[in-house]
Amino acid sequence: MTKLSVRHLLGIKNLNENDIQTILDTATQFKEVINRPIKKVPSLRDITIANVFFENSTRTRLSFELAEKRLSADVVNFSASGSSVKKGETLLDTVNNILAMKVDMIVMRHSSPGAPHYLSSRIPANVVNAGDGTHEHPTQALLDAFSMREKLGDLAGKKIAIIGDITHSRVALSNIFCLQKLGAEVMVCGPSTLIPKHLGDLGVKISHNVKEALQWCEVANVLRIQLERQQIKYFPSLREYSLYYGINKAMLDELGKEIVLMHPGPINRGVELSSDAADSNHSIILNQVENGVAVRMAVLYLLAQQ
Ligand code: CP
Repeated sequence: MTKLSVRHLLGIKNLNENDIQTILDTATQFKEVINRPIKKVPSLRDITIANVFFENSTRTRLSFELAEKRLSADVVNFSASGSSVKKGETLLDTVNNILAMKVDMIVMRHSSPGAPHYLSSRIPANVVNAGDGTHEHPTQALLDAFSMREKLGDLAGKKIAIIGDITHSRVALSNIFCLQKLGAEVMVCGPSTLIPKHLGDLGVKISHNVKEALQWCEVANVLRIQLERQQIKYFPSLREYSLYYGINKAMLDELGKEIVLMHPGPINRGVELSSDAADSNHSIILNQVENGVAVRMAVLYLLAQQ
């Protein structure tokens, strides 16, 4: 069996192409498993995993929990709200106390970029980054790549546009690293205030015209406007953002070509995507969610072999 080159999944930046292909190929096998009448395998029996979430989540948290249960792991869930973090307990003390209860693996979401990296150098357990602030969200990029590969085949040479709030998005950075390692061409599109100046250094194309981006790409991965991370105004109003960067079904139909529409969720309906686009035949948004379980099963299974 092929092994990963890493003990922790901290970001896509730390993976090589072989790691990514191994995860995607393993996820293909697990997708077949979770579509059987009996969706469980004993692969992680006697392994205990803690899902440690310091930030809100619907998809990632439930998807990890289901992935762990499908692999027969024992699971405990921790939310910062309602915990002793509110009494001032540190991140490291919190996690060391969880590990003292014989936990083998930590899946963590945290608002501080680098928090999982900090933890991984101080604890003996495997660490999986479930999103660290505006930095990386590696399992989202892997499930996005898996979903694109299912639709388009090998991603080498494919054109992928990432459209929206790039500045505040951990999904954008992980997707850029992942898609480039798989040989795809990447464009980012949004208002100049929502595209970091250094992004051109990563070798991505940059556009400020959403129609140009849609014409260019085979896949449009649309990102949420993250108002909760914005300390200043990056555009005059949501209405104006929607007018210039919002995507609706008519825009996709008018392209006269096949285009795959993606969004990591949660969607701001009527802002970056209209409901008729999000729910259209172009959209694979719910396929992304389905694939998240198989991809996370693959990640946990492969890390447990390290
Ligand atoms: N895509 C994603 O990370 O969604 P959640 O914040 O609901 O986990």
